[in-house]
Amino acid sequence: MSLDGKIGIVTGGTGGLGLEIARELARNGATVIITSRKKSKLQKACNIIGKNSYGIELDVIRTKSIVQFINRISKDFNTVDVLVNNAGFPFERKIWFKKVHDVTDTELLNILQVDLFGSFRVSKEVLKIMMEKRKGVIINIASTPAISGHSCGSPYSIAKAGLISMAKHIALEYGQYNIRSYSVALGDIDTQAMRKSLSKSELRKAKNENTLKRLGRPEEIAKSIVSIASENFSFSTGNTLIIDGGKVII
Ligand SMILES: NC(=O)c1ccc[n+]([C@@H]2O[C@H](COP(=O)([O-])OP(=O)(O)OC[C@H]3O[C@@H](n4cnc5c(N)ncnc54)[C@H](OP(=O)(O)O)[C@@H]3O)[C@@H](O)[C@H]2O)c1
Repeated sequence: MSLDGKIGIVTGGTGGLGLEIARELARNGATVIITSRKKSKLQKACNIIGKNSYGIELDVIRTKSIVQFINRISKDFNTVDVLVNNAGFPFERKIWFKKVHDVTDTELLNILQVDLFGSFRVSKEVLKIMMEKRKGVIINIASTPAISGHSCGSPYSIAKAGLISMAKHIALEYGQYNIRSYSVALGDIDTQAMRKSLSKSELRKAKNENTLKRLGRPEEIAKSIVSIASENFSFSTGNTLIIDGGKVII
């Protein structure tokens, strides 16, 4: 699988899944741009990824930040081959366990702002570059509750379901420009953020909910995502790949 000479962006790539995806893109020959809201986190992550990695500040809820980010990308890299919309609102137990009738407008909006609107805003700008170059791949990090629903966490599921629709629209509206788009609906993946969000018994339950009886490893998710970004998936677009150890099977 070669991504030699390709330019890839991973939003929120300084830790967890984003960092693993960025590492895997780089391992396969791509030049990788990772983003963070905090400049101080970028250098450390780039040191982990290795050469051909660059860190640029980005807050996906601020239009000015997106404009500055895209200007920098255009000036320094001139193209974008792969965009992975990975940035996600941090898990908050207080919101997660609320039922629909208790969710406030602000809680809903805060999550939509990052996971959905943020990914939409960044994709809009990146699409303009990809259209000009007549190539590109956009991958959204969604989640299985967006497909199956869940007994809590409605703002998250709704935001991730929006991402699934967004990938379909991009695929259908920009296929003529040789631009592909996908969502990956992930199950429980063993990141620091995920571990921090669950109690011991919730973690045990999460492991037992899928047929493989374990959490997903960030490295294996990264491998799947980089495969989608490569020519391995050249005649597939618009769909959602479920990567969850066989919990949601459609
Ligand atoms: N782990 C799982 O089980 C799981 C399952 C399904 C889906 N997912 C999705 O996978 C993605 C990564 O999850 P993770 O577990 O690796 O969590 P994570 O470490 O918390 O990653 C989330 C990233 O989003 C970035 N971010 C947050 N707000 C942002 C903003 N306003 N602008 C730009 N970036 C922002 C953060 O970067 P900075 O703080 O550096 O800015 C952070 O690196 C998320 O979209 C999550 O919903 C995870």
